Amino acid sequence: MLELQQKERVRSAGVSNFGVDHLEVLKNSRRPMLSVNQIGLRPWSQNTDIINCCRMNGIVSMVYLLFARASVLNDPYLRQLNQKYQGTSAQILLR
Ligand SMILES: NC(=O)c1ccc[n+]([C@@H]2O[C@H](COP(=O)([O-])OP(=O)(O)OC[C@H]3O[C@@H](n4cnc5c(N)ncnc54)[C@H](OP(=O)(O)O)[C@@H]3O)[C@@H](O)[C@H]2O)c1
Repeated sequence: MLELQQKERVRSAGVSNFGVDHLEVLKNSRRPMLSVNQIGLRPWSQNTDIINCCRMNGIVSMVYLLFARASVLNDPYLRQLNQKYQGTSAQILLR
């Protein structure tokens, strides 16, 4: 896809689940940079190294499993935050 982007056949390309090592390989490959990297992210698992690497290279991070398929929405700590900030679990997680 990045080679097609180089030939101006596609405008942008994205991947999912790329770690820092994958991003570094791409960076050194003399190809255009990715536009987006979709990764799993939650307050309990923040992947800050990947997020920072994306930021430094102009790649947008797109999140999946933020709600962990709704399994975390009743988490007791999240409920405390709901009361403190007057929001729903989904709103707290998004923030
Ligand atoms: N690249 C990858 O490896 C990868 C892996 C997983 C997912 N994805 C993609 O990521 C996208 C998101 O999927 P996901 O699995 O990450 O979903 P998710 O964040 O786990 O969220 C979906 C769950 O959250 C609930 N929900 C959504 N909004 C809510 C709200 N405001 N209040 C309460 N509950 C709410 C939904 O309930 P309802 O069912 O009632 O709507 C559903 O059960 C999809 O397009 C998926 O294909 C990509």
